Amino acid sequence: MPRSIKILTLLFCLLFVACTGRIFNKTNDLTLDDEGRIELEKSPYQCYFAPEKIIIGAELPEGSSASLVYWEEGHPETSRSVPFKEHWDSIYHAVPEELDISKSYTCAVEIDGKKSRSFPVNPGTPPGDEFSFLVIGDTRAGNSLAHKKLMNEMTKHAAAFYIHTGDFVHDATDPDQWNEFFEIERPLLSKMPNVAVAGNHDISDIGIYTRLFFREERFYSFDYANIMVLVIDSTVPIEKGDRQYRFLEKELERYESSGMDHLFVAVHHPPFSSGSHGDDTMLKETVVPLLEKYSVVAVMSGHEHNYERTKPINGIVYIVTGGGGSPLRPVDISSFTEKALIALHFIKVTIRGESVFLKTIDINGKVVDEARLR
Ligand SMILES: [Fe+2]
Repeated sequence: MPRSIKILTLLFCLLFVACTGRIFNKTNDLTLDDEGRIELEKSPYQCYFAPEKIIIGAELPEGSSASLVYWEEGHPETSRSVPFKEHWDSIYHAVPEELDISKSYTCAVEIDGKKSRSFPVNPGTPPGDEFSFLVIGDTRAGNSLAHKKLMNEMTKHAAAFYIHTGDFVHDATDPDQWNEFFEIERPLLSKMPNVAVAGNHDISDIGIYTRLFFREERFYSFDYANIMVLVIDSTVPIEKGDRQYRFLEKELERYESSGMDHLFVAVHHPPFSSGSHGDDTMLKETVVPLLEKYSVVAVMSGHEHNYERTKPINGIVYIVTGGGGSPLRPVDISSFTEKALIALHFIKVTIRGESVFLKTIDINGKVVDEARLR
């Protein structure tokens, strides 16, 4: 495409988003599948906030009077519903109420008496039960076929939630890229909640990241069974004493007094990396000394398009998992490297009481790294 047309297209997209605030195209018609069920192209999608709190997002026709219907798995007689509320653009959201973490639920979107295909929602796991979570990063523009294949592999694993370590898309102001992202991740997003970490490519003036994932801030934390996950926003400078730094201090203190067993950190930029970008100096100098005061199991990042697991550095293992579909890049071996791979992959972390296990799985479903983290 000639450069002038590319620039004009980009300007048009920016103007469209700036004027309307819209990232998705509004659709006013309900599409039904062969069995008369509502077909929702890019949704519903689940976002994890806390035990018993999962927000269900859905792209719905404008002015929809839709409900989220949910019932205990295998017990449709327990069916309840909550209305979807308009959130932003064509995105609506609903929060199922009074979920019991010892139970599994089945949900569906209902509009004018018609239901969507049902999908599972699991609000939590009682402490003591074994569970896993998945992590993927850097799915942004490049190889959507690889992204799809990885999603297909991830859906084969039972997991409580999955963390995306950022760079969902290449250009956060391009509606087509978000549309593609949601289309590809839909099978996983409807099966388990997403935990979104902001990458440098996901940030825009109109706050698309926070709007799409229902977050007020790009830094937050949550608890699940016996673990706490701390999400750091590395797309902005962090200085000792600033708002985010104080939040991290407060949450780390909360973890220390909570009695929980494991603490994980998710942040887009890697504090330690043998990839083409190298160590993130800001995180290494400002955040790492703070994390080292606490018993962090692992810091999980993206940004580098490769895989790397370090030896414990002052007690913390650093994992780069940026092989979600972006063009792969080389990775060196540093003095701190335990394992480095140039591979499309995701990781699976399994918590069994006080033990933590890691598996790194490539695009063909093959385990390419395995370690006991605790
Ligand atoms: Fe990045």
